Amino acid sequence: PKMADHRIPGELVVDDMVLGPNVMPETIQKVKSFELKEEDVLIASYVKTGTTWVQELVWLICNNGNIKEARSMPIFERIPFIEFTMNSSSKSGLDMLQVRPRPYLIKTHLRSDIYQSQIEAGKVKIIVGIRNPKDTLVSLYHFYRMNSNLGNFKGTWDDFFELYKTKHLIFGDYFKWYSYWLQYKDKPNVKLVKYEDLHHRMSDVIDDVCQFLGKTLSRDVIPDIIQHLTFDDMSQNSMVNYTLISMFDNDISPFMRKGKIGDWKNYFSEEQSSVVDKRYREVIEPLGVTLEFE
Ligand code: A3P
Repeated sequence: PKMADHRIPGELVVDDMVLGPNVMPETIQKVKSFELKEEDVLIASYVKTGTTWVQELVWLICNNGNIKEARSMPIFERIPFIEFTMNSSSKSGLDMLQVRPRPYLIKTHLRSDIYQSQIEAGKVKIIVGIRNPKDTLVSLYHFYRMNSNLGNFKGTWDDFFELYKTKHLIFGDYFKWYSYWLQYKDKPNVKLVKYEDLHHRMSDVIDDVCQFLGKTLSRDVIPDIIQHLTFDDMSQNSMVNYTLISMFDNDISPFMRKGKIGDWKNYFSEEQSSVVDKRYREVIEPLGVTLEFE
């Protein structure tokens, strides 16, 4: 079979979003009508854009910078992945939320159309995570290889790029995904957090997110938080590095793989680069968003 025909085991395509069996249509229906309140925080990002990094940052800001507690529970329990159900004997992220007290901290990879009524109600605070599309695609290529839920992709980078061009990737096309979410970026209850800013301007991002969420962190915990959030620390920290998840084969490629800006240059041909550049100019730039590629 051609690698561009790669399909996720048991996949469903819902409104152009490719979903695995971990995301059940009935969960999506429930998410659509799940009431989100002003004190809740929804972290919405496309896969492999640094979601886990943003989650850890947001969790610490919402929990007085308590690193000890952050190191005592996996991130996927501290911030449930709302639409996700690990297997038939486990709870969905939504079920996990419903048995805990507010405020809810939530992770989602669904497009904004699912949350339209909550967004229009204008209450829930939303942090939209984004990363340049080229590094995102390289990261996603390795994620497809190491993740049995995505069918352990066996092809080369060029094969994966063909699959990207057919727009047949988990949670749909990157550009379509952001064309939905970025339309809300200037709303007062929405904050855009860029992966590249976490690299270059972490302390500014911490200040911004604190202000957005109406939280303050004591000055003396900030250096420890910044250290805790480095790639070196996070890749060694089993509460965030996903080594506890059996569907991920870290010997093929670790979840915390490289954590760099510009690794795409080791993969993209000029032609592939121009395909993505064109979409970036068509979809992202007109929305007034600029991303760093190196
Ligand atoms: P790479 O595959 O390029 O290394 P997500 O959490 O959305 O799945 O994103 C995972 C990507 O974010 C991976 O990218 C991972 O290494 C990177 N990442 C996670 N924590 C990071 C950190 N503290 N510093 C830099 N990159 C980080």
